[in-house]
Amino acid sequence: MKLSVIGAGNVGATTVQRLAELNIADVTMVDIVEGMPQGKALDISQAAPIMGYDVDVTGTNDYADIEASDIVIVTAGIARKPGMSRDDLLATNIKITQQVCASIEEYTPGSIIITVTNPLDIITYAASKATSLERSKVFGMSGLLDSSRFESFIAKEVGCSAKDVNAMVLGGHGDSMVPLPEHANVSGMPLPELLDKESIDRLVDRTINAGAEIVGHLKVGSAFYAPSAAIASMAESVLLDKKRIMPASAYLNGEYGYNDICLGVPVILGKSGVEKIIELELKPEQKAALDRSAEAVKEGIYKI
Ligand code: APR
Repeated sequence: MKLSVIGAGNVGATTVQRLAELNIADVTMVDIVEGMPQGKALDISQAAPIMGYDVDVTGTNDYADIEASDIVIVTAGIARKPGMSRDDLLATNIKITQQVCASIEEYTPGSIIITVTNPLDIITYAASKATSLERSKVFGMSGLLDSSRFESFIAKEVGCSAKDVNAMVLGGHGDSMVPLPEHANVSGMPLPELLDKESIDRLVDRTINAGAEIVGHLKVGSAFYAPSAAIASMAESVLLDKKRIMPASAYLNGEYGYNDICLGVPVILGKSGVEKIIELELKPEQKAALDRSAEAVKEGIYKI
């Protein structure tokens, strides 16, 4: 099996490291900066004897090297700086995504595409329009990251292992995202029975601003450790046909009442990509929040 990662920056290179450590597929990393993907791939390869993986990791500036990939993960583009919203990246990252998709069409048509570049839902929509793939084969990584952030905050607040927390965030990957605390639980115990409303509201708010909080600290870029973990988990579910249920930015054709939009919803991920979109029963206020999120994503889509 073969994975390709486009963009060898913070998110791309860390993703390649995580994928190599999964030891399930060879990995090719592409960037336009000469020497950078080659150097990082060599570095990751040289950890193989210590870490115990034996997949091939290669870096290249030549898109022809992505041929016959099972999945292409697209991280190419610019990242946020303090004070920028994800939407500020739109104009630059749309152009890059369209170029990257043209190369995917040329060299590895039929590969599943996982988008990561921000603004995520709009970029995912643009990628799905820029390829001839079925809609189920182009989806974005966002909700799994937002859910993991929410879970990590819940674990700290409750004082328990992060492994025991299960939570979900739907909607667009931006200020309008929709964390669902009513659906969250800790080892089967509903979150609202463990924390008071004020604490839950504070964690919801921190989740929505979690990416910006990291940008504020880093000053020169955005998050990459948790994003790369989420990407690797999604790629693994597809490659190994695990059929894990996780939120992804998927193309909606009537689901949740939305049409012709990519938005974060729970899906089953298997070897064909998005194998099923799960339609949750939402309370009226949750649905209203999802409507606002869909509207915000649509506004971005109109700008493409
Ligand atoms: N083909 C391949 N690589 C490209 C292209 C292209 N056409 N255009 C830009 N790149 C590369 C850049 O050279 C750079 O190495 O994409 C890489 C982006 O890396 P970083 O600047 O480190 O950004 P990163 O933190 O990895 O974030 C990438 O993911 O989470 C999102 O918001 C984030 O949109 C951003 C993306």
